[in-house]
Amino acid sequence: MHDERGLIEEARSLGGDYHLLKIVAPRIAGAAKPGNFVMVRISPTLDPLLRRPLGILESRPPYIWLYYQVRGGGTRLLAGHRPGDGLDILGPLGNSFPEMPGKRVLLVAGGRGIVPLFHYARAYGERRALLLLYGGRGKTDLPLLERIRSLRLERLFIFSEDGSIGLKGRLTEGLEKIVREERPDATLSCGPEAMLAALAALLKPFPTHDLASLEARMACGFGACHGCVVPTVSGALRKVCDEGPVFPLEEIQWPT
Ligand SMILES: Cc1cc2nc3c(=O)[nH]c(=O)nc-3n(C[C@H](O)[C@H](O)[C@H](O)COP(=O)(O)OP(=O)(O)OC[C@H]3O[C@@H](n4cnc5c(N)ncnc54)[C@H](O)[C@@H]3O)c2cc1C
Ligand code: FES
Repeated sequence: MHDERGLIEEARSLGGDYHLLKIVAPRIAGAAKPGNFVMVRISPTLDPLLRRPLGILESRPPYIWLYYQVRGGGTRLLAGHRPGDGLDILGPLGNSFPEMPGKRVLLVAGGRGIVPLFHYARAYGERRALLLLYGGRGKTDLPLLERIRSLRLERLFIFSEDGSIGLKGRLTEGLEKIVREERPDATLSCGPEAMLAALAALLKPFPTHDLASLEARMACGFGACHGCVVPTVSGALRKVCDEGPVFPLEEIQWPT
């Protein structure tokens, strides 16, 4: 884990609430694995006091790329940052998705959940068959599509709830058919909690090895505050920041 002063080289609005940052952060970039995240200090003042967790879209030393959606005060402030600004970044944090050489892997990304899966495809896509199922509410929620088309993927399935791009519907509606036809060995997913809960139920009958990257509100990001725990089916609580964010899908107690 490094506490690094990153330097923003590019700050781009991608339309809607979505933004992309290209940051010079050589120590974090050199150590980052797909699934890891960083804690970003948004402001040098006490507001907001807490760093915000963001996944790493891509790392190519000396750069990391962050892709984020404005949700509240912290991310709105972040969107005001410009090239040349510095950012205090802690990372890389958390565990990562395993490489699984030789396995046929289906990536399932809901909205901004594309972040760790894009990183995975960029890092490991040359060496295996990767399939990506990507969905959001509409075209404006999928502004990374152009970059995604540059990834090495065997198949790309796109769903939008309003039908503005790809097939109309939730990606969970297409999942069963895709798993039956494409027979992946494993699924790696990231997205809203309701999507992951639906995936857990839908994938139960299949023999796939299923891992999901979770989001939780975080205060420290490295295991010290217990602010990010999630319940598991065994009754134990697990910390998303340092025991995750990647967990076996069937291990989590999803809300019903
Ligand atoms: C491991 C991890 C990786 C993440 N990666 C990304 C990413 O790559 N891109 C991205 O856009 N977002 C990502 N998030 C979510 C991001 O951290 C939150 O959207 C952000 O912290 C919101 O801060 P804010 O001050 O703008 O909003 P706040 O004012 O703090 O909250 C606004 C809304 O966002 C919700 N929210 C706040 N924090 C979180 C959180 N940690 N997880 C989920 N919902 C939250 C709140 O419930 C509220 O509804 C990630 C979260 C985690 C835990
Ligand atoms: S955020 Fe502090 S323990 Fe996870």
